[in-house]
Amino acid sequence: RIAYVNGLYVPHGEAGVHIEDRGFQFADGVYEVCEVRDGHLIDETRHISRLIRSLGELRMAMPMSRAALGLVLREVVRRNRVRDGLVYLQVTRGVAQRNFLFPANTTPTLVVTARATSRAELEQRAEAGISVITVPDNRWDRVDIKTVGLLPNCLAKEAAKAAGAREAWFVDRDGYVTEGGSSNAWIVSAEGRLITRPAEFGILRGITRTVTLEVAARLNLQVEERGFTREEAYAAVEAFVTSATLGVMPVVRIDGRAVGDGKPGRAARELRATFHSVAE
Ligand code: PDD
Repeated sequence: RIAYVNGLYVPHGEAGVHIEDRGFQFADGVYEVCEVRDGHLIDETRHISRLIRSLGELRMAMPMSRAALGLVLREVVRRNRVRDGLVYLQVTRGVAQRNFLFPANTTPTLVVTARATSRAELEQRAEAGISVITVPDNRWDRVDIKTVGLLPNCLAKEAAKAAGAREAWFVDRDGYVTEGGSSNAWIVSAEGRLITRPAEFGILRGITRTVTLEVAARLNLQVEERGFTREEAYAAVEAFVTSATLGVMPVVRIDGRAVGDGKPGRAARELRATFHSVAE
């Protein structure tokens, strides 16, 4: 495998950044994960736009132009011979003597990796559906920035794994589900309405979420962008999560309780089947 690190394509096993990189010391960096399908980067434009926004919120600049970054992403995908999989990119503020204050003139660190994933395995998982558990949302309140500071997410997903589930849903102090550890959360009401939390409040604006909203409109599915509680989720007729890594993934159990009839729901299956004809 080959990784891109600051201008060089290097063997994955030898790729590294400096011990005083601010990404390592302060999680002072942002990232994106983009799906690769048939060798094509899905929703690249939106991912790069979100990257630029995340960087801006942390007062960081793009390490290179949009076009150049696109070339690097494609080159890493090509060099790793990834046809279906994921491309990961991370930008940190760069290397500086440890000091909480932002250093003046550092060169940002840019790392890009790619790996193949099994489409068949993912489809199998979607046919079975996944289980989720709920956990208190103990993250900071700037989760709209896609930073590499993901320790609460790691802990939540570890708790999910320990409980035999695939994903954890964060629940805020008022009992409302915010989002998953690495996905956005959705339910379907008895009236057949898709319900998902507005992106303005306490969640990452998922690219897959945005595209799913467009797919829903295409399929004439009614959507309510509003918060929903854990209890509402227990009573929902179906549930699902969205992310670049999972696509639209049906949820069949929440905290051990079957959702609906305990099988992937119709809306989630339809959205999944239609997703890639709408995604770019
Ligand atoms: N995570 N919410 C959180 C907290 C996430 O980490 C992610 C994605 C999403 C979904 O965003 P998108 O649809 O743009 O992938 C929502 C990526 C996949 C990850 O960390 O691996």
